[in-house]
This record gives sequence, structure tokens and C-alpha cells, in this order.
Amino acid sequence: SSDFFAEKYLQGQHWVVTAGPTREAIDPVRYISNHSSGKMGYAIAHAALRAGAKVTLISGPVTIKPPSGCDIINVISAEDMHQQALLHAKQCTTFVACAAVADYRVAEVAAEKIKKTTENMQIELVKNHDIVADVAQLKNKPFMVGFAAETQNIEQYARGKLMRKNLDLIAANDVAKAGQGFNSDDNALTLFSAIDKTDLPLTSKQNIAKQLVSLINQHYQAKHT
Ligand code: CTP
Ligand code: CA
Repeated sequence: SSDFFAEKYLQGQHWVVTAGPTREAIDPVRYISNHSSGKMGYAIAHAALRAGAKVTLISGPVTIKPPSGCDIINVISAEDMHQQALLHAKQCTTFVACAAVADYRVAEVAAEKIKKTTENMQIELVKNHDIVADVAQLKNKPFMVGFAAETQNIEQYARGKLMRKNLDLIAANDVAKAGQGFNSDDNALTLFSAIDKTDLPLTSKQNIAKQLVSLINQHYQAKHT
């Protein structure tokens, strides 16, 4: 409804949202990354702001503009995002990990542009820190919300991540389905807690963000009262 945000129901809360992809340098001109427009994370930041929260948006490189009124922290690599997330999550009430973080970085970034020589080449990769899992290890950890972009076995993989990463909620989406996820303006999600699940059918990312922010707050209130 038009007065959805009339009541600033997140007043007093501080949300930290990660969004967008990360970039892992190979050499001065090349990188490895993930598909991610940042639209979902930015829509969540926007919806939380309008509901009255203070919002810190930690974003990888995207082409869209951050919602006005949020504190924007721009990062490039997963290790940068990890450092900023741990710093800012200490003061927040709710942490939403929407970023498409690169799971691996290049073991040794070349100082100079790599020249084309042999027919085959290998690049050694090493695992990045798991940002959301590490924030969930903080003492006084915030209310923790993760995302899971899956192409198969969605509920099983999403619930696995919920438990393994010590999250309160995980929002899963089927990126194999056309018209949702990645660069799309629309999305469909299923929100899992340890004990229940809620389907949010296909709609605009703006709309789904509003519903998600309200649902996250309901679970947050249930845990803290
Ligand atoms: N995530 C994170 N830091 C990472 C990797 C993932 O914070 N280094 C977060 C994502 O932002 C998301 C959640 O963890 O909220 C799940 O990400 P996903 O890539 O689906 O899970 P992984 O644990 O990386 O497992 P896999 O890619 O093998 O499915
Ligand atoms: Ca991953």
C-alpha cells in the first residue's frame, strides 16, 4: 500500500548490506568476477532506509547508483569486502549478505600484464574468507541473513548454508529460471529459517525487497522479544 513506509518500523536499527560482485585481479588489466548487477542488494538497502533504518551498503563494482541516505562503502575484492564487513558489522543490528563474492582469488597477482605465449596456461587460485560466516562468529553477532543463488537442489543447499554459516535466515533463488536473478529487474525468493519457509513469488526487485525487509524484521522481533 502507499503508506507502507509511513510507519518507520526499523527506527533505531542499523543494517549492513553487502551487494554486487567482487573482482579478483589476475594482472593489472584482467580480473575474475561473478555475474551480479547489485540491483537486489541496493533494493534491500533502499527498502530498509525507507523503513527508518540506518543503512551501511558495502558494495563491489556496479553501474547503478546507491540509494541516497545510506553510507556507501565501495570495495573491489572479496578480501576488501571481508575487512569492511567485519569493521561495520560490529555496530549493526542486522547483516544482509547479498553480494556475489568470488570464492577464490589469484594466488599470485602478476605485477605486469601477462603476455600471450603458450597454448595452455594455468592460474592458481586460493579460497577467499567467507564474509557472512565470519561476521556470524562475532561476539554480539547481528541478526544474520544470507542469500543462496542455486541452479539445482535449492532447499537442500540453502538449508546447508543456513546451518553451516550460522545464519538466522537465508533467501534462496533459482538462477537457472529465466527472468529472475542476476541482471534481471525481477526476482523470486524462498526465505528459509531453521524451522519454516516463506515463498516470495516473482515480482520486481523493489517489491520483493520491501517484502523481504518486513519479513526479516518480523523474524528479528520474534528472536529479540
Ligand atoms: N558469501 C560470503 N563470502 C564468501 C562467499 C559467500 O559472504 N566468500 C555469502 C554470500 O554473500 C551469500 C552466502 O554467503 O549470502 C552464500 O553464497 P554462496 O556463493 O551461495 O555460497 P558458498 O558458501 O560460496 O557456496 P557455493 O558457492 O559453493 O555454492
Ligand atoms: Ca560461492
